[in-house]
Amino acid sequence: MVSAKYHVFICTSCTLNGQQRGFCAKSGSPELVLKLMEELEDRGLSADVMVNNTGCFGICNRGPIMVVYPEGVWYGNLDEQAIETICEEHLEAGHPVERLRI
Ligand code: FES
Repeated sequence: MVSAKYHVFICTSCTLNGQQRGFCAKSGSPELVLKLMEELEDRGLSADVMVNNTGCFGICNRGPIMVVYPEGVWYGNLDEQAIETICEEHLEAGHPVERLRI
């Protein structure tokens, strides 16, 4: 049974044939997934947060995109600083980051 506290989806523009084509991937989202995983490891949150990369959410102009459940919070225009902030304020402290929501 999976008992993660949060489930995070980050668009890496994956397609069904496995290729990454799209705005989020071109904007560095695969590296942001790695950054997120590093941050979670450094903060001792790896067991609490499940991370999956996804295909296009259909709002590429606001990407890179991340969705956090169980709240269903959508974040956009992600960069490394945003990943750090979301880790600290949302995934660690439990408060969604209003200024980064879309
Ligand atoms: S490629 Fe990420 S939302 Fe479209």
